[in-house]
Formats: sequence, C-alpha cells, structure tokens
Amino acid sequence: MANEQQIEFWSGSGGEYWVVNQQQMDTMLQPLGEQALARLDLGDVRHLLDIGCGTGSTTLDIATRLGEGARVTGADLSVPMTDYARSRLAPAGITNADFMTCDLQTDTLEPDMFDAAFSRFGVMFFDQPVVGFSNIRGAMISGAPLAFVCWQAPSENLWHSLAVATAREFIDMPAPPEPRAPGPFAFAETDYVTSLLEQAGFGDIVIAPHKQTVEMFSGQDVRSAAENFARINPVISAFVAEAGEDKAEPLIDALAEALTPYHKNNVLNFPSATWLVSARA
Ligand SMILES: C[S@@+](CC[C@H](N)C(=O)[O-])C[C@H]1O[C@@H](n2cnc3c(N)ncnc32)[C@H](O)[C@@H]1O
Repeated sequence: MANEQQIEFWSGSGGEYWVVNQQQMDTMLQPLGEQALARLDLGDVRHLLDIGCGTGSTTLDIATRLGEGARVTGADLSVPMTDYARSRLAPAGITNADFMTCDLQTDTLEPDMFDAAFSRFGVMFFDQPVVGFSNIRGAMISGAPLAFVCWQAPSENLWHSLAVATAREFIDMPAPPEPRAPGPFAFAETDYVTSLLEQAGFGDIVIAPHKQTVEMFSGQDVRSAAENFARINPVISAFVAEAGEDKAEPLIDALAEALTPYHKNNVLNFPSATWLVSARA
C-alpha cells in the first residue's frame, strides 16, 4: 500500500504526539511557516489548500486572514490530527475552513478546486513525490501559486542532529535514512526538489534558503526540555519507554548537558535551516 509507513506513523504514535504537543510544535514552526505564507498573496485567494495540515494551526490562521467569501481546506492523512483539527473550528468561531482526512498522493481530488496551495513541512513524506505533486497540481487551477517550507539537511538543523548524536553514545541508533527517503529531510537537495516539481508540471520554481533561530520547549528548565527532546525522536523515546526512567537517566543527563549552551531564559534556541519554495501550477 502507498505511504504505508507514513500512515502508520501519523495515524499512530507520531500523530498522537503532535496532538498532545501541538502548542510546542507551533512555537517552533510558526515563524518558519510564516515565511512561506508570505510568498502567497492571500488577497487574491478564493480557496486555498493546506497540504499536510496536521493539527490545523496553519489552516485556522489562514482562515482568519482570508478575505470575505474565501476559504481554506486543510488536508492530511492522519486521523487523530485531522480529528483534533476539526475540533478546533467551532471554539475558534471559524466557518470558512474545513478538513479532509485523505492521502494527497493517492486520493482522487476534484480538479481545479484550489487557486493556491501552501504547506508547512507537510510535503516531504510522499513515497512517490511526483505522483503526489501531480495529484495536487490537478486540484489547482492552472497558474495558481504554491508555497511551502521544508528542512535543509539534518547537519544544518541541530534540533534534530544534536539529539541523535547524543543518543548514539548510549543506544544503537539506526543508520540515517537514504537521503531522499520520505521523511523530514527528504527535500534537503534543491535540484531534487526542482526536478520533482518540474516533473509534476509546476513552473516558475524558486527555492530560497532561509536561516532562523527557532524556539523549543519554552517555559521549561533544561532537564524537562531534555526529557521532551528525547520524546520527539521515535527511536530515543522507544528506548526511554522500554528501559525505564532509571536506565534512561544517563542519556537524559547527557542530553541536558548538550542542550545547556542553547538554553536561555527557560527556552531552547536552535539555529534552523529551511528552503522556502514557491512555484505555479
Ligand atoms: C511534519 S507534519 C506537519 C504538520 C503541519 N503542517 C504543521 O506544520 O503543524 C507533516 C504532516 O504531513 C502529513 N502527511 C504526510 N504524508 C501525507 C500524505 N500523503 N497526504 C496528506 N498528508 C500527509 C502528516 O500526516 C503530518 O501531519
């Protein structure tokens, strides 16, 4: 089945983690999503697609920014994340947004439905990215703008690489995935991203590098931040859960020590490197 591992992860432990930690994830990712959103002129939009919208924060935000009569649809394959996203609509008083639980690579989408598409880190998980982007383009009207943000290489993103390097001293961490394998870092190479979008029929492709400090686990001391940092990585969190707190303690201690230089005023500040990608359907 297409995207089997992703469905298992995002409708399983990964999705549940994101639902519980929605605010923390937003604190880290909001400023980066903002950069991609700035590449779209929302004043022109009638119906925008939020690709891989997750718990829906960007969808809700876009809904409040759109002009009268315009709407946004958040689409995501995760059942718990879209259920949670839907539950946020009424309390926020938002009536111009909706959520589809679907696989944007394989599910049939209505043609010419969207006049803009956006994604905050939701496009790097297709096991056949050209098929995924072609499907999305088919749902966009010709010439409609697409803008998304994705990660540069793990080595440029300490929020990921520091935990992995520290954990390696204690656990047998799996080898890193193949460079283009579906996952957060699949789009680290710009030539690859350009070629995927071209093959899917997109034009006017522009990819700009972006560096920005991101905040993680605000309001937490370094020890709590280390415990939560360990929870983000599925391999480390599985080890901590299995080994129990006592046996995992040296790893958490080492993480807290590694994080200390980045921890100020009860928040972790990490340099991040992303690509801001824009194109036209
Ligand atoms: C890193 S999360 C980002 C979530 C959200 N955009 C945010 O910034 O909070 C990636 C999202 O992409 C979704 N996703 C992965 N593959 C997908 C697919 N084939 N179709 C739809 N959504 C997908 C996941 O379920 C997950 O919610």
